[in-house]
Amino acid sequence: MLAAYDFPTARLLEGAGADVILVGDSLGMVFQGRSTTIPVTVDEIVYHTKAVRRGAPSTHITSDLPFLSYQQSDAQALANAARLLQEGGADSVKLEGGILVKARIRALVTAGIPVVGHVGLGPQSVGTTGGFRVQGRDLASAKRVIEDAKAVAEAGAFAVVIELVPAELASIVSEQIAIPTIGIGAGAGCDGQVLVAADVIGLDDRYAFKFVRRYAEVGKAMSTAFASFAEDVRSGSYPADNESHRLKPEVAAALRESFPRSGVGSV
Ligand code: KIV
Repeated sequence: MLAAYDFPTARLLEGAGADVILVGDSLGMVFQGRSTTIPVTVDEIVYHTKAVRRGAPSTHITSDLPFLSYQQSDAQALANAARLLQEGGADSVKLEGGILVKARIRALVTAGIPVVGHVGLGPQSVGTTGGFRVQGRDLASAKRVIEDAKAVAEAGAFAVVIELVPAELASIVSEQIAIPTIGIGAGAGCDGQVLVAADVIGLDDRYAFKFVRRYAEVGKAMSTAFASFAEDVRSGSYPADNESHRLKPEVAAALRESFPRSGVGSV
């Protein structure tokens, strides 16, 4: 599973054989430059899901229910999840939380909406959980993560993301529940792994998470390309003749006759 938000990345992911594309609310930080995921709206997730669906027509897409789009009531969760599926084209929705959202997940699944759970670190709750830090380090909080994952599975979710917990804990969760666990910063004991596509390709060098493995330096390649373009335009080497469209010689000559060189313009 990889998180992506746009048409070209989705196209490449489908071509590369990704099992699932996540239109995550991480787009608030990765794509919009915000410091948390809190401001992301349902409208934005719908917009990005549409683009991803166009790029990856045959891949399972799960889209995040963003902050406060499902906490108020089952009716609110159903209405917003319906938008992600019907307007956006997602196949399933993901929402953060464990025991506290068990009934909500059940309501969605009962209505026929496939749900991916998300336990461990919940970026939507960083205001109350103390920031982006590893969860479940001590016995009590580790047990809570296990109970959360069990609640998600019992509620009918078909998979669960486990974010930023010690590897041993994620392994135990994976043993204790029947649905697939998808880890991010949760070690090798999960059934699958998820990362943000932009991190995997090195698009943005502002973050250096321990758990991210970079497979390319696309950000550096882009910087070099943009600087080279600017240099070529300034030096006049771009565009070359073979990068330009030409008039037929007789049309060019007639045009020149009608518009002799004036010396007014800079060219
Ligand atoms: O929003 C997101 O991209 C996520 C992943 C980090 C799992 O939830």
